[in-house]
Amino acid sequence: SRPFLIAPSILSADFARLGEEVEQVLASGADWVHFDVMDNHYVPNLTIGPMVCKALRNHGIKAPIDVHLMVKPVDRIIGDFIEAGASSITFHPEASEHVDRSLQMIRDGGCQAGLVFNPATPLQWMDHVMDKLDLVLLMSVNPGFGGQKFIPNTLNKLREARQRIDASGLPIRLEIDGGVGVSNIAEIAAAGADTFVAGSAIFGAGRTEDPHRYDTVLAAL
Ligand code: DX5
Ligand code: ZN
Repeated sequence: SRPFLIAPSILSADFARLGEEVEQVLASGADWVHFDVMDNHYVPNLTIGPMVCKALRNHGIKAPIDVHLMVKPVDRIIGDFIEAGASSITFHPEASEHVDRSLQMIRDGGCQAGLVFNPATPLQWMDHVMDKLDLVLLMSVNPGFGGQKFIPNTLNKLREARQRIDASGLPIRLEIDGGVGVSNIAEIAAAGADTFVAGSAIFGAGRTEDPHRYDTVLAAL
């Protein structure tokens, strides 16, 4: 079936040398760049925005940039990320006043669109917009910080999401985000995920073992 993809979360990269970090992790075998946008309002942390996405494109990064919006409101930042070179844009449905419209805006801008489900957010949010989804992202931690522990019940939710996607017959990727690492990625894949975000597991380990190499940890995933 579809290939498994690894999307390192640059939240755990060294922001002082972000361009090199992204180049290095892609050269080491990563598929996507996962780009966490936090607004200190929807989530309790403040990170990076469209200017940094644009800077990575200007630096020559060609890989898909997977923008995970943890912001409220959602709509007024979507256009900026489309212009900044985002490839996919996902958002939390409870942070959008008009979920169908936000999804449509993303697709109209030529990007892949997706919804993100917090651990306690029900999957029913996807029911009436399945045909507008390219991605479904399940959070396996509460959003806001890297380095948290994987919430085990997410495995049940993954199985349920996998059933819904398969029943739809649509080519929707099932992405998992939070606490993913070498020790649990196999059971996460068995539960139905095909796209794996990992932040601290990749950048933390890579930096500790050998400052400019991420191929060992990527090969282990
Ligand atoms: C959390 C972010 C994640 C985070 C994952 O709100 O959405 O992408 O960076 O980090 P790890 O893999 O360390 O849990
Ligand atoms: Zn994320």
